Amino acid sequence: MPDAAAPADTHTAAPEGLWYVAAIASKLRPGREHAERAFGRTLLLRRGAQGEVIDTGPDPMPVRESEGLIWAWLPGPEGEAPPCGPPVFNGPGAKVRFVEEALLPGPYDDAVYGLLDPAHGPYVHASPLWRSSRTLREKAKDYVPSAMGFTMQPHEPKNSAAYKLIGGGVQVEIGFQLPALRSEWISNKSNKVLGLTTLTPVDANSTRIRQIFYWESPLLSLVSPFVRPLTRGFLQQDVHIMTLRQRAAPWRKREMLIRDGDQLFIWYRRMKAEWARARASGQAFENPVRAATLRWRT
Ligand SMILES: [Fe+2]
Repeated sequence: MPDAAAPADTHTAAPEGLWYVAAIASKLRPGREHAERAFGRTLLLRRGAQGEVIDTGPDPMPVRESEGLIWAWLPGPEGEAPPCGPPVFNGPGAKVRFVEEALLPGPYDDAVYGLLDPAHGPYVHASPLWRSSRTLREKAKDYVPSAMGFTMQPHEPKNSAAYKLIGGGVQVEIGFQLPALRSEWISNKSNKVLGLTTLTPVDANSTRIRQIFYWESPLLSLVSPFVRPLTRGFLQQDVHIMTLRQRAAPWRKREMLIRDGDQLFIWYRRMKAEWARARASGQAFENPVRAATLRWRT
C-alpha cells in the first residue's frame, strides 16, 4: 500500500500548519450558525458566550477572529494546535469595508499561479478602464524576502487608471506570504488603502478567492459602489481563466516554469517545500527567497 498514507495530491494542495480566511466576520449573526465549505469539510461557525468564534462542525477546526475576518488553521494529520495566531496586516480602520468572492474551479496551486503570474493582470483582466495588452512595456521589479514570503519594493503605478481614485502621488507596495495571502498597500499623503487577496481551498478541485479592502477615507466609501461591479467582473475573469486552465489540464502533463516570468511562483513552490520540511523536522522556516530584480514585458 504505497500511497495509503499520502494525501490525495500534495503537489497542488494547500500547505498545512497555516491560517486561511474561512469567512467574513460580519456574516456571523448573533445566535446563528454560519456554514462555510472549506478544506473538504463544512465549518459551522458561531459565536460563543464571550463573543469568541467557534467551529461546531463535524470536524471542527481552530478558528480565530482578526481584522474583521474569521481565520481557520489547517492542521496536519496529527491534528496539532496552532502555535500562533493569524497574521496581522494592520488594515486601516481594522474593518472590512469591501469584500467580493468567487469560487475558482481549480486546485489551490493553480489559483496561486494566477495570483503570482505577472502576465495574469494585463491578459486576464484586460479592460479599457484598467489597462490593455497594447500598453506592453519592459518592466524591472525589485523583490526582497519577508518573514513568510516576499515583497515588491514600493513603486509608482504607471498605467492603471483605477489608482487615480485615491488621488495623486500614489505608491503601491505588494506583498505575498504563505499560504497565499497577497497584500497591496495603495497610499499617498492623505489616504491609505489595503487590498487583501486571499485563497482558501474548498476541496481538492476548487478554491475560494476573496478580494478584501480596508480604508478609512469617507471619500472611498462613496466610490465603493462603483468599485463593486468592477471587482465582480475581475473575479469572473479569474473564474473564466481557471475554467480554461482546467480544460487544458490533460495536455499539461509536465509543468514548464520559466524565469523571470514564473520566478514568483517558483519561489512560492520553494517556500511551500521549505515550510513542509521545517514542520516535519521541527526546525525554523528558512525563507529560500533571495533579493532579486525580475524583468518581464507586461
Ligand atoms: Fe485575477
